[in-house]
Amino acid sequence: MENNSLVSIANLSGEQLKYLLAMGREFEKCPNRKILDGKLVATLFFEPSTRTRLSFETAANRLGARVIGFTDPKVTSSTKGETLKDTIMMVSNYADVIVMRHYLEGAALWATEVSPVPIVNAGDGSNQHPTQTLLDLYTIQQTQGRLEDLNICIVGDLKYGRTVHSLIMAMRHFNPKFQFVAPRELSLPEEYKRYCQEQHISFEETERFDSSSIADADIIYMTRVQRERFTDLMEYERVKDVYILQRDMLGQTKDNMKILHPLPRVNEIAQDVDDDPHAYYFQQAKNGLYMREAVLCNALGYTLDDVRVEK
Ligand code: CP
Repeated sequence: MENNSLVSIANLSGEQLKYLLAMGREFEKCPNRKILDGKLVATLFFEPSTRTRLSFETAANRLGARVIGFTDPKVTSSTKGETLKDTIMMVSNYADVIVMRHYLEGAALWATEVSPVPIVNAGDGSNQHPTQTLLDLYTIQQTQGRLEDLNICIVGDLKYGRTVHSLIMAMRHFNPKFQFVAPRELSLPEEYKRYCQEQHISFEETERFDSSSIADADIIYMTRVQRERFTDLMEYERVKDVYILQRDMLGQTKDNMKILHPLPRVNEIAQDVDDDPHAYYFQQAKNGLYMREAVLCNALGYTLDDVRVEK
């Protein structure tokens, strides 16, 4: 976390991850306090977002900071040809921390090289989404009581899914057993499989998705097939509805198995699954507020002791 920026989850040790989760728990106890009074948070979203932007802005507002930014680069001078470097240089004149989502892989890392203020990566292309992973870890720990030794079944778009890539990297500290479920066209890229091998992460790959393939899972992590990442829309049409989690598939699962999804969902989880006790994706999204409060405070130099509710 050079300069307190958060660019890639791969840069964080297991201890640093648990430290941030502990900060998140303090904010769950008390999300409204004016720790960041007088600070200014910039949210630069070069790609659409609902949860990430709104939870960051809610976090900033609940902590007393003010927010500037944009939700659509078309209303900025990037349409006149201004470079990302110049945009970051300008915004860093105004804000204490920059939260940025960009469609290019590596954009957040590039921003840290020119910015004097911390950069928080809110998603860069199909590369990384570290703050999503922090809230995923928070949710896994909250529901399973631990992060270690879990069976995690990840389903859907493993090729372009940045939340998947970040989650795999973060879980390397906790001895997971992954089952990767994807059609051939969206299977996990070789670089991530190599990463798993180098990090001694146990995994299996399959194209099958039915009740028997999820029977051992502690977590089922569903993902959306992302239309916006395809250059060939015929290929998108072929794979978009290949896996749909139906309620009648949940009869043989572990009692405490939880279904997570970074959201947004399209068709990959049937609507009636929402009422099943295994469904946990809306609570997962709520945890985003606590973890993003932690991320903003950490980026601005506050420690766990600074944010503890009971000293
Ligand atoms: N999970 C996630 O990143 O959602 P948004 O695209 O709505 O921010």
